[in-house]
Amino acid sequence: MELHADPLSHIYCHISQFEAMLRLDGKVVLITGLGQTTDEGWGIGAAIASKLASQGAMIFGGNRSLASAQRTKSRIDSSGGICDIQETNVTEANSVKALVEACMQRHGRIDILVNNVGRSEPGCPATMTEDIWDSQVDINLKSVYLTCHLVLPIMERQTSGGSIINVSSIAGLRYIGKPQVAYSATKAAIMQFTTATAVIYAAKNVRLNTVVPGLISTPYTRELAKRYAPGGDEEEYMRKRDAQVPMGRMGDAWDVANAVLFLAADESKYITGQELVVDGGITSSTGRV
Ligand SMILES: NC(=O)c1ccc[n+]([C@@H]2O[C@H](COP(=O)([O-])OP(=O)(O)OC[C@H]3O[C@@H](n4cnc5c(N)ncnc54)[C@H](OP(=O)(O)O)[C@@H]3O)[C@@H](O)[C@H]2O)c1
Repeated sequence: MELHADPLSHIYCHISQFEAMLRLDGKVVLITGLGQTTDEGWGIGAAIASKLASQGAMIFGGNRSLASAQRTKSRIDSSGGICDIQETNVTEANSVKALVEACMQRHGRIDILVNNVGRSEPGCPATMTEDIWDSQVDINLKSVYLTCHLVLPIMERQTSGGSIINVSSIAGLRYIGKPQVAYSATKAAIMQFTTATAVIYAAKNVRLNTVVPGLISTPYTRELAKRYAPGGDEEEYMRKRDAQVPMGRMGDAWDVANAVLFLAADESKYITGQELVVDGGITSSTGRV
């Protein structure tokens, strides 16, 4: 009998065990900022939504513009995934309430919440207007409060609890070479918001963690290169970003999406209140050569 056994059977067994990992079958994901403005490449929110859908989750996404959310939805639909979208402004309480209610109407539960929306405005306290400061606090920090305010009680009621993943930035940990104090301050605040809330909800079976991306190459980064590259040399701008990273290259949206997947899945069920830094080594380095 032994002689006729398939010599590769132990490998097949490992492969099928691997495929069974990080599955999200039947889970409902509410995600903000899943859209992207171009068909080229992948933005972080779009990649997260697509990755979680590919692992079996049902996606319900809120985005400022429906057109860019539709681009992500079409990609997920064409791979056989499930994705609903709703026009949402994450800085407005009524809009976030409508998003959460629509998701509950559709699925009756929320297992995973991903707060992805965020953007950076340049400036230091002396140069930044009060309006810009307020808008940075609203989009980066109040948005996280607004979704958590409504979703935490839902997750607490569910016997299976839930997992919340907030997307911060290494700008919340370090000065990364350009003045963007409101972005840095709000991204740092997300981390402590997450940690403190994680402790409060630890016994309620709701986990909260932060993913902290470094320099990531996305369609938006390409836009920045178009806008800020000295002398219009976009390739040089991108090369400089690559060179800032100890690994010698920027990450991509999938690097961030994979970290979110791990924190969303049951494989991380004993991890809460943590920051998972995805930066190719930047924050572990002094930056000096
Ligand atoms: N890219 C990087 O290098 C990098 C590095 C560190 C951290 N991060 C963080 O990663 C997250 C994703 O950043 P990203 O630049 O890659 O963006 P992204 O995920 O490609 O796109 C952001 C999405 O948010 C949407 N959005 C913007 N304002 C909104 C609002 N008020 N309400 C609802 N949706 C809104 C945008 O909608 P529209 O399509 O309508 O514009 C867009 O679809 C952010 O939190 C960012 O701070 C990015």
